[in-house]
Amino acid sequence: MRICVIGTGHVGLITCVSLAELGYEVVGIDSDEEKMEQLTRGVSPFFEPGVQEYLTKGLAAGNLRFSAQPEECIPDADVVFVCVGTPARATGEANLIAVEQAATVVAKHASGRTVVVEKSTVPAGTSARVKRTLQRECTDQAEELEVVSNPEFLREGMAVEDSLHPDRILIGAEAEWAFEVMRELYRPLTDQGSPLIETNIATAELAKHACNAFLALKISYANALARICERAGADVVSVADVMGSDPRIGRAFLNAGLGYGGYCFPKDLVAFERLAARSGYNFGLLHEVAAINEQAIEAAVDKVKDALWNLEDKKIAVLGLSFKPGTDDVRFSPALALAARLIEEGARVVGYDPEASTGAKAEVPEIEIAPDAYEALSGAHCAVVATEWGEFAQLDLERVKSEMAYPVVVDGRNVFDPQVMRAAGFVYYPAGRQPVL
Ligand code: UGA
Repeated sequence: MRICVIGTGHVGLITCVSLAELGYEVVGIDSDEEKMEQLTRGVSPFFEPGVQEYLTKGLAAGNLRFSAQPEECIPDADVVFVCVGTPARATGEANLIAVEQAATVVAKHASGRTVVVEKSTVPAGTSARVKRTLQRECTDQAEELEVVSNPEFLREGMAVEDSLHPDRILIGAEAEWAFEVMRELYRPLTDQGSPLIETNIATAELAKHACNAFLALKISYANALARICERAGADVVSVADVMGSDPRIGRAFLNAGLGYGGYCFPKDLVAFERLAARSGYNFGLLHEVAAINEQAIEAAVDKVKDALWNLEDKKIAVLGLSFKPGTDDVRFSPALALAARLIEEGARVVGYDPEASTGAKAEVPEIEIAPDAYEALSGAHCAVVATEWGEFAQLDLERVKSEMAYPVVVDGRNVFDPQVMRAAGFVYYPAGRQPVL
């Protein structure tokens, strides 16, 4: 089966390398010629565990290539994945211009039966628009083109693993022949045990938003609990453990802290709320989820102020700048939102991240970047753990204390054990747990 993937961002490139790994002939297409050259040379444009290895492997095997010329490869494709960006408009609605452009390109160049797969996260109803675009732009053989929704559930930092061992594969389609093509495509994964769920197209589109919004809701629930636990003398980690031991609830995504960020949850939540509003339903719950998420940053700022009083002329070390560990992605990173707030309050912020320093500096130029955690901590009046990279839990606490001007740690991800911090002589503010003062 020959496959084209339009868009080579976090979802598109993972789709390329994973399908190549399954043995398909794959061409990644992107209008960014420089990026296509870079990928052709075998260099991944972003850090994601496994991508570099699978990219090298696919190129060497000869079944993976990249092109900026859709007319060269789309005519031969049996399946075209649309993995373009769907950023938020000022209104919060998803901007679907790139999806329309991709549909137009496919319509222009497709030849013979072709399945057009929406993998980008799109509001329910988008496939109908894609279909109409295909029909308009491809008058001679529009009946040969079929739209399928196949949302992606991969997590950054685990993307290749999630893509090659998905906990479910979701296919929304209308025509039986399109279902059959997708079943065949994913047979190597279903044979190894990944379940395949078949629905109509709108259901598949909506299920993706429903999943992301629900996961965001769990995180905000934990963060709301954190605020109450701090006031009530309780411990949010233990509360989450108790809740998580009920299999109906589950422990995952109940970690309180600085809240969720990244390119998916914040924009998908708002897009889902807007979709609901447009259809006449007020999904106010989602509005509250986003509000609680913003409060999580302010709660951390309040702790820093509680510890340091005025922030002018104080040096604050921010450990971790990416939106989560395992990635260099800083889009909508809570760590950067926090850093920006501290800078606004007059603090000098020195950040450290094992992978995301360059992106962080581009996003918030006022941040000073340190080459390692100890440099960031040197002379700092307070340290904030903003992203839970594994190396932070391994820091030598004696050395940390001796480097810092004041031994104050605000733990935005509950990386440290409060008892250990007490014994080590720190003033310690965790999230949703009792502080060590
Ligand atoms: C998320 C979903 O988990 C994927 O299933 C989905 O495919 C993807 O969005 C997408 O739509 O493309 P991702 O954004 O990579 O994946 O990251 P997550 O692991 O979900 O984390 C999102 C944010 O929530 C991070 O900032 C993380 O630090 C935060 N988080 C996560 C918490 O604050 N607490 C938790 O308990 C879990």
